[in-house]
Amino acid sequence: MLSEEEKREIMEECTRYEKKSAVCIEALRIVQRRHGWVSDDSIISIAQFLQMSPADVDGVATFYNLIFRMPVGKNVIFVCDSVSCWLLGCDQIKNYLRSTLGIEMGQTTPDGLFTALPIACLGHCESAPALWVNGDPILRTDETMMNDLIQKCREKAGGRLSA
Ligand code: FES
Repeated sequence: MLSEEEKREIMEECTRYEKKSAVCIEALRIVQRRHGWVSDDSIISIAQFLQMSPADVDGVATFYNLIFRMPVGKNVIFVCDSVSCWLLGCDQIKNYLRSTLGIEMGQTTPDGLFTALPIACLGHCESAPALWVNGDPILRTDETMMNDLIQKCREKAGGRLSA
């Protein structure tokens, strides 16, 4: 069920378009901002609110990489695995995540701090291997950068946690 605040925000978006369905992606973002991901129940609520079918809302949600249909960790690490990043070491990044955090692509650490997800070209091919971490690009990534990044995320979460 959508909260009153979510409904208000979605209605505000609706004022900019002729059709309610035009704000579907914004509605998904609004819900995700509040909950961290978009559940099946939220898909149904958004569909009812926008007078769309749940299948159509789900189609939009699953099309966009940045809408999460499952719970994710506090820090989402997108690892580009398109050709430039593949040639320049995205597999080493994946190996690092596997050995340091104990997760494969698509998994979340048990402490809920990190989720690793694959993504297609981020548009930083000249600076491969490239990542996106919480919306920020991390370029020419190496192990030292990964160590710093993981450390910063842990500190931000309130202290060093065991991996
Ligand atoms: S191939 Fe990775 S950013 Fe383009």
